[in-house]
Amino acid sequence: MRWARFALLSAALSLASCGGNQSAVDAAGIQAERLESLWWLFLYITAAVYVIVMIVLGVAVARRRRATAASVPETSPDIKRDNRAATIVKVAVALSVVTLFALMVTSFRTGKAIASLADEKPEIAIKITGHQWWWEMEYQDEGNPSHNVLTANELHVPVGRAIKVLLQSTDVIHSLWMPNLHGKKDLVPLYPTTFYFEASRPGTYWGQCAEFCGYQHAKMRFMVVAESPEDFSKWLSAQQQTPPQPTDALEKRGLSIFATSVCAQCHTIQGTGTNGRVGPNLTHIASRPYIAAGSLQNTDQNLAEWIADPQHIKPGIKMPMNFYSDEDMRALVAYLKSLK
Ligand code: CUA
Repeated sequence: MRWARFALLSAALSLASCGGNQSAVDAAGIQAERLESLWWLFLYITAAVYVIVMIVLGVAVARRRRATAASVPETSPDIKRDNRAATIVKVAVALSVVTLFALMVTSFRTGKAIASLADEKPEIAIKITGHQWWWEMEYQDEGNPSHNVLTANELHVPVGRAIKVLLQSTDVIHSLWMPNLHGKKDLVPLYPTTFYFEASRPGTYWGQCAEFCGYQHAKMRFMVVAESPEDFSKWLSAQQQTPPQPTDALEKRGLSIFATSVCAQCHTIQGTGTNGRVGPNLTHIASRPYIAAGSLQNTDQNLAEWIADPQHIKPGIKMPMNFYSDEDMRALVAYLKSLK
């Protein structure tokens, strides 16, 4: 039963692609489960109401025909029938009020249950900042801020642990939505908010911006990797490391191009003296399977095309075209792809 309804609805609702899952009816966390239950409850009740209304409508239409055929004299209106109709309307109004009230209470209860993770005082805090049109993720280490990790368009979370997410926006209103894990949460400039979630099973899930925020709103996606606490710790400590200085001649040349050209005005690679904050932090760009906020797989070819002409892939973004010789581009890509 559950499988059948999942197959049916995920076909219609899921925006899944790129080797991940994105579906509100395939919950992978306790908050999303609550929302999914609420969604099914609303679907069942509204479907039942629809069927009942259609049956009553059908009966009314059929009776009207019969009454016309019987040619009731105009001087003796059927008062008894009118009374019955009034009773039906009264009962229907009463039922509607009760049903809507019950749905409202269920909705409130779901909202309260979703917020209950806050009581667990999560150890992991991630600050997510919305930008036109990408996501900045900062893993915060309160005890030692030098261990903070800055990454982009990719969340890693340990399964079974509560996560605290702080949301903020630097430009316009965005909305963070990871359907398998939590409902939508708006990022409103000047009004930071907080929410909590927990993944209950490992997997790769897709999230995206769910509030129209300009030209490239549709290409503002991110990946959520829910993994075992051990894998998560490994990932986090790898991200905390400063990448080693390149030894290969081509990569060295790539680093020098990165650090001395326009790249460094917007991007940061830890250990290179660059500190641009306009675009994503690239310290471990080679560890990310996607670039351009989930728009492209992180292959050498795609990376080179993205650097050369990002406006072709995401028109309207802040990153300009870059003109490098083939050899310089090869060096730049080789260096970036060494940043595991
Ligand atoms: Cu950001 Cu839509």
